[in-house]
Amino acid sequence: MSVRRLADDNVQPASFAFTEENAAWARATINKYPQGRQQSAVIPLLMRAQEQDGWVTKAAIESVADMLDMAYIRVLEVATFYTQFQLLPVGTRAHIQVCGTTPCMLRGAEELINVCKKRIHPEPFHRNESGTLSWEEVECQGACVNAPMIMIFKDSYEDLTPERLETIIDRFDAGEGAEVATGPQIERVFSAPAGGLTSLTASDAAVGKTAPRSRKTADESVSVPPSNAAKPKTDAAETDPTVKTPLTAKAEAAANAKVKGETRAEGGDADEKQPAAAVAKPSLNDKNRPAGIERPATVDDLKLISGVGPKIEGTLHELGIFTFAQVASWKKAEREWVDGYLNFKGRIERDDWVKQAKALAKGGEAEYIRVFGKKPR
Ligand code: FES
Repeated sequence: MSVRRLADDNVQPASFAFTEENAAWARATINKYPQGRQQSAVIPLLMRAQEQDGWVTKAAIESVADMLDMAYIRVLEVATFYTQFQLLPVGTRAHIQVCGTTPCMLRGAEELINVCKKRIHPEPFHRNESGTLSWEEVECQGACVNAPMIMIFKDSYEDLTPERLETIIDRFDAGEGAEVATGPQIERVFSAPAGGLTSLTASDAAVGKTAPRSRKTADESVSVPPSNAAKPKTDAAETDPTVKTPLTAKAEAAANAKVKGETRAEGGDADEKQPAAAVAKPSLNDKNRPAGIERPATVDDLKLISGVGPKIEGTLHELGIFTFAQVASWKKAEREWVDGYLNFKGRIERDDWVKQAKALAKGGEAEYIRVFGKKPR
């Protein structure tokens, strides 16, 4: 953790003023708080100042203090405490905060830091030559389950490999940061088990039904620039995840669309017509039922496919499905038949069983790791 101090005087602007629009927003924000508690607006006002100018200047701190009738030192304490506030000019397109706390370090944060050193600057808080990128190491950002991870402004990018981080850096440097999906960079949904669900595997109730963490969703990233101007979305249902606010419903749809979109991009053919409600089981005599085989002497461990648990594996065996090669060969109609038979509601496409099975059939665990960047479960 680096010492957090104000930038040198020679880079500090002489003054600060909110734009007209931001000033009106600041007044409205201050008025949200009960009489005598207006100083509670200090964090949103500092964040707005950062969104406006790209970093928090000494003049901005003093201006916010004046607006809230606070001593300068109190606002300085807040600005220097939270690593979300940048006290130096940072990259105009991305300031990458690499979590270096133990869980992320154990999962490869050091390699991510080396990427930043190589691609941006050997030292933290120094911008690259074009001024578009900068980086620093920060403490835990609360996404340890998806370690290692980074933050870029208000968004997190999780389950990273050095290669994926390089791609993300390239996209931001090219001004395409808004198009990079946030959150996990592997196929998992939010912080669901990386190897696929371990419970409620026969229901989609566990996928995309709970409110996501407060972060930008995939569709919002299209319209929100990749800068500090991204506005926080914090009205997710906190107490009862079954209650859908408009935002949670939108986030759910976006999450499902994101998963489907990425599946398609990787070569799958996600089924847009999949009905939401459970449908009657397809007939065992249906022409689209995948061909089964007699149980071979050695069967593949189908549970290595994310989404297949012991119960599903048993059902597949009953259907004569024993090998990865069989699953890898399923055509769309066959996948739909199995999906309907398992009442999986699109899960086979979402988890891309065919791609997983192809990798496992081709080279076992090593090939799976090469393709997916992680072990099969
Ligand atoms: S340790 Fe990295 S997010 Fe918690």
